[in-house]
Amino acid sequence: MLALYCADAALQPRAAELAARWGFSLGAGEPGETPRLVLTPERLELRAMHSEGPVFVDFVGGAVGHRRRFGGGRGQEIARAVGLKKGATPSVLDATAGLGRDAFVLASLGCAVTLIERSPVVAALLEDGLARAAEDAEVAPIVARMRLWCGNAAQLMAQLDPAVRPDVVYLDPMYPHRRKSALVKKEMRLFRAVVGEDPDADALLPAALACARQRVVVKRPDYAEPMTGRVPTMSITTKNHRFDVYVLKALPG
Ligand SMILES: C[S@@+](CC[C@H](N)C(=O)[O-])C[C@H]1O[C@@H](n2cnc3c(N)ncnc32)[C@H](O)[C@@H]1O
Repeated sequence: MLALYCADAALQPRAAELAARWGFSLGAGEPGETPRLVLTPERLELRAMHSEGPVFVDFVGGAVGHRRRFGGGRGQEIARAVGLKKGATPSVLDATAGLGRDAFVLASLGCAVTLIERSPVVAALLEDGLARAAEDAEVAPIVARMRLWCGNAAQLMAQLDPAVRPDVVYLDPMYPHRRKSALVKKEMRLFRAVVGEDPDADALLPAALACARQRVVVKRPDYAEPMTGRVPTMSITTKNHRFDVYVLKALPG
C-alpha cells in the first residue's frame, strides 16, 4: 500500500481524511526509497527518493495551460478523432483517465467528459488537480464539465445505465515502451512505477464498443498494432502516435 506523507501539522486532518478515503497508509518519519504521495499546502503530489517527479495534476499552468491557450482548438487531431466539429460536441467517456490531460483538452473544447481511473493514487491526484482548477476563474468552467469516477472502466461501462451512454469512449491504456527507459521522461517513469503496464487493456475495446453511441477512439503509439488486432474505420496520425477510430454511427450535422 502506498503511503501518504504530510509534514505540515495544519494539514494532518486533511491527510488523514485522504488516506482513509483512498486506502493509503499514513507515512511517519523519514520516507524510504519507494514512491509516495506527499500533501503540501499547495497540492497533492507523487514523489520518489531520487530525481523522478514530482508528478501532480496541473490544469491551470504548465504544458496543459499552454496547450489550452495555443493548442489549435477543434482542428487538433484528438478533436477530429472524437468527431468534434461545428454543430457536434459529443459527450466523452475517457475510460483510462491517467493524469487527465486528454480529457482536459476535450473538456476545454466543450465536451462533457466522464473520467474513469482505477488507480487510487492517480485518481487522488486527479481529484486534487480538479479541485485546484475549480478555484481558477478561467479554468473553472472547463473542469465543471469533467467528473471523475474511480474503478475498473471495463466493469463500469458494462454496468452503465443505457440512458446515459456516452457518444464517444476514449481509450489510452499504458503501452510497453519501445525505447529504453533512460529516454522516457522522469515523470513518466515514476507514473509507470506506480500504475504498471495495463496487461488487461484489450478487455477495454469490446466493453467500449458496447457502451459508445457513436464511436470509440483508441490512442496508440505510432509503432503499435491496433488494439486486439481489430482494424479501425480510420486512423489519424500525429507526430508520435495515432488515433484509431471505430465508427459505430454517423455523427449528426
Ligand atoms: C497512459 S495513462 C492515460 C493518460 C491520459 N490519456 C492523459 O492524457 O493523461 C493510462 C491510465 O489508464 C488507467 N487504466 C488502465 N486500464 C484501466 C481500466 N480498465 N479502468 C480504469 N483505468 C484504467 C491506468 O491506471 C492509467 O492511469
